[in-house]
Amino acid sequence: MNPQIDNLLHESRKFAPSEEFSSNAVATTALYEEAKADRLEFWARQARELLHWETPFTRTLDWSNPPFAKWFDDGKLNVAYNCLDRHVDAGNGDRVAFHWEGEQGDSRTLTYAELTAEVKKAANVLAGLGIGQGDRVAIYLPMIPEAVISMLAVARLGAVHSVIFGGFSADSIRSRVDDASAKLVITADGGWRKGKVSALKPAVDAALEARGDLGPQDSVTHVLVVKRGENEVEWTDRDLWWHEEMAKAEPEHEAEAFEAENPLFILYTSGTTGKPKGILHTSGGYLTQCAFTHKVVFDLKPESDVYWCTADVGWITGHSYVVYGPLANGATQVLYEGTPDTPHPGRWWEIIEKYKVTTFYTAPTAIRSFMKLGRKIPKQFDLSSIRLLGSVGEPINPEAWMWYRKVIGAKAAPIVDTWWQTETGAIMISALPGVTETKPGSAQVPIPGISIDVVDDDGTHVGTGNGGLLVVTEPWPSMLRGIWGDPERYKETYWDKFGDKYFAGDGARLDHDGDIWLLGRVDDVMNVSGHRLSTAEIESALVAHPFTAEAAVVGAADDTTGQAVVAFVIIKESMLEESAAVEDIAAVLRGHVGEQIGPIARPRDVFVVNELPKTRSGKIMRRLLRDVAEGRDVGDTTTLADTTVMQIITGQVTAK
Ligand code: WT7
Repeated sequence: MNPQIDNLLHESRKFAPSEEFSSNAVATTALYEEAKADRLEFWARQARELLHWETPFTRTLDWSNPPFAKWFDDGKLNVAYNCLDRHVDAGNGDRVAFHWEGEQGDSRTLTYAELTAEVKKAANVLAGLGIGQGDRVAIYLPMIPEAVISMLAVARLGAVHSVIFGGFSADSIRSRVDDASAKLVITADGGWRKGKVSALKPAVDAALEARGDLGPQDSVTHVLVVKRGENEVEWTDRDLWWHEEMAKAEPEHEAEAFEAENPLFILYTSGTTGKPKGILHTSGGYLTQCAFTHKVVFDLKPESDVYWCTADVGWITGHSYVVYGPLANGATQVLYEGTPDTPHPGRWWEIIEKYKVTTFYTAPTAIRSFMKLGRKIPKQFDLSSIRLLGSVGEPINPEAWMWYRKVIGAKAAPIVDTWWQTETGAIMISALPGVTETKPGSAQVPIPGISIDVVDDDGTHVGTGNGGLLVVTEPWPSMLRGIWGDPERYKETYWDKFGDKYFAGDGARLDHDGDIWLLGRVDDVMNVSGHRLSTAEIESALVAHPFTAEAAVVGAADDTTGQAVVAFVIIKESMLEESAAVEDIAAVLRGHVGEQIGPIARPRDVFVVNELPKTRSGKIMRRLLRDVAEGRDVGDTTTLADTTVMQIITGQVTAK
């Protein structure tokens, strides 16, 4: 066993919630008992109590055709109405929905009444452009209120959004727009990042242009453009300014109810092949689990809390814990446009002080980079409003956990380490604050109503003290309903391995208390700064460069980002001369990956090598490359076709 993991499993520090926190906690031990006694009735109660149903459901789960689940399927609701109008109708229209903060320090406050009014107008604009139930709308926006308004306007019409993270390239936009046959793209001229305007519309233009003149075949009829960066943009016939359309729009819009299984969104995520998967989520079950987990995991007191989740709406965390969960619960939030260190490294802590944030949810990679800068920076700000901290996206090492608790949480705020995925839609494993004692580094226990196990390759429970594969053993309300346009891939990827259990792709261990420790991916998927990247996708971007004959990519341990992308490439024989004339091949190839996929996928290191380690059957042995990338002695090489190749590679890499 890896000695580090062994140490982790003997982590004995535990922090009990304070008396005061426990006695006021939203979560109770009774939730576990209730869910255990009758899981389906437990979820039915949550769905009824947390949401407004236009037509109440009578069926909770239909699992007659696994792995295709239907939850609450004879009920009808409108997702946007649940996030907006009903709070206004209940007399909470003046409550702040968002304190939005621009990177440059400009700000905007939106109450529930104002947000509702904006979404109604936007829904009228979209309807006027021909968007209706089931149509797909691509959204490529910075972190501005219009991102949330667009998502909710799409949802209000029963249409389907596909949000594309602003850091993705034109190529990535194109493949997503094509895969979903989007009818409309919503973008902005640009947004503020790192003290500059970063343009967005040119990437959309390039993506649509690269598709050629599709004529009437073209799925995209319009591009709606929000003015934010004030940067110059080119204009075509299909483009419309958001503010002009909104100024003309009717203010009233009645929300129609749709079936609980009406698709809500597609979100693309990397898998083990070169093609991203369009993860499909639907309405009633998704919203139920988002609302429930947001309420109990974040101990939500909607009248007094100011909640801030730092995720971008381009990722699942932004969908579930910036838009749907918090808004369904009527929470007050902070929404921030920019980067954590602009214009100064204390920017986040300044925002916490300014809005008196009580609940803060971020990623371990951010915590580790602040840790490196030192506690002096956060200490300059008043963080005393914080009463609860959350972590998501990758395992949080106990050292970072302790720093987070001490420096940001004043040794008093409980920390919830939440495990889930794009596919699970909402939190699956987490402590419940006020109920569970928390343990640095462990995500701990399934939330009530969720059935998790750690099993060996045959699907047998491993027992406490042992490691294996993480599986979900029963369907859950916010589970993915499939992969857009590819039901076979859905079955193959998640269900074929065990037949009756959902295979998450993560390794995990059970410690002696039965708590769950996540150990990272067991497939060819990397986790860089909490963002999922596929080795195959980056390899195919690398071999698309004229210099490259072959490429192998691995995720190597990195102090700040968790894992970093490290690439090994072989240059084509015919290109040796030409490539030798380039001053920095690594920089050229890194830039190329940035253009093909987006800056987040750019390798940290690119090593040009003469050969790659392969088994006799020709499979690249990534394990050995990871050893080299992490500076370890190379392990067992007996299955290599050519055992000398690793000596050569190690020599080439260390010579750099
Ligand atoms: C993968 C899912 C869930 C939103 C952000 C990422 C890893 C996520 C944790 C955690 C250890 C975690 C897993 C998972 N992961 N949360 N608390 N502890 N690992 O969503 O891009 O779908 O990635 O992130 O490896 O499979 P995603």
